[in-house]
Amino acid sequence: MAEDGLPIRCVADHSERKLRILGAYMTIFSTGMKNKWSYLNYIDLFAGPGLCYNFKRAREILGSPLLSLNTRDPFTSIHLVEMKERVLNALRKRVLRHSRKDSVYIYEGDCNEEVANLRNNLSIGYDSLDLAFLDPEGFELSFETIRALTKDRKMDLIVNFPTSGIRRNIQKTASRDSSRLDLLVPGWREVYRNPLPTSEAAALAILDHFKKLLEGIGYETIEPADRISIFTSDTKTHLYDLIYASKNKRGKDFWQKVARKALEGSQKTLF
Ligand SMILES: C[S@@+](CC[C@H](N)C(=O)[O-])C[C@H]1O[C@@H](n2cnc3c(N)ncnc32)[C@H](O)[C@@H]1O
Repeated sequence: MAEDGLPIRCVADHSERKLRILGAYMTIFSTGMKNKWSYLNYIDLFAGPGLCYNFKRAREILGSPLLSLNTRDPFTSIHLVEMKERVLNALRKRVLRHSRKDSVYIYEGDCNEEVANLRNNLSIGYDSLDLAFLDPEGFELSFETIRALTKDRKMDLIVNFPTSGIRRNIQKTASRDSSRLDLLVPGWREVYRNPLPTSEAAALAILDHFKKLLEGIGYETIEPADRISIFTSDTKTHLYDLIYASKNKRGKDFWQKVARKALEGSQKTLF
């Protein structure tokens, strides 16, 4: 339980680092873009309860939904999807206590099914820019959801890509006729068929293929600097990658500048 008496998400240093990067990007996005667009929307398909507890440091930190509610310059609208009832109830209570609660839409259910509903609530027109954070625990996200969410919209994406999950399971996954990976990275089997020396190499090749899929739906070329690898703080095990994608080159400059700075800062305090 958190200090506010509601359920909290228990995390390690690497999640705090992820959230610092996200928070830094949200700040530059919401402040840097406020005079350029009439509508700035934030979308969080895997919202969680709103608050996290870093058990290594014994401290509470804001989860992605509350980070989006606490930017200096507000988002016009905030869209939060969560599937687990208990988590969703905690999230809803935390949102309702917030002064910006009226800007928030909450969706209960599987984000892969809620996406059409969510799209109906987004502002329409050319004068609107979106930021979406896609933060599954594993393989819960489908590429078709990303396609449906982003179609005909200017939407920056920060995707938590499960590199280590792929690395650990790739042989077993490849031996099955179908898996959740087919939904997250359609076509990955063609990449995997080429001889790859290690499971890590296979996971990275699949990640590259995922980047190409994003480029295929209108995103700018995703360069190595657009990807931030997240490691455990003690054993430096590669866990997952934050992949940034934008339909605009300037967004990429912001991400590279802000995210690297946030990463350096968190390396000083989280190691
Ligand atoms: C990694 S956590 C999100 C943490 C949150 N983004 C943060 O940083 O505070 C993933 C959350 O997504 C939820 N979830 C899992 N599968 C989902 C799905 N298909 N649709 C919506 N939510 C889902 C889980 O219950 C969990 O709360």
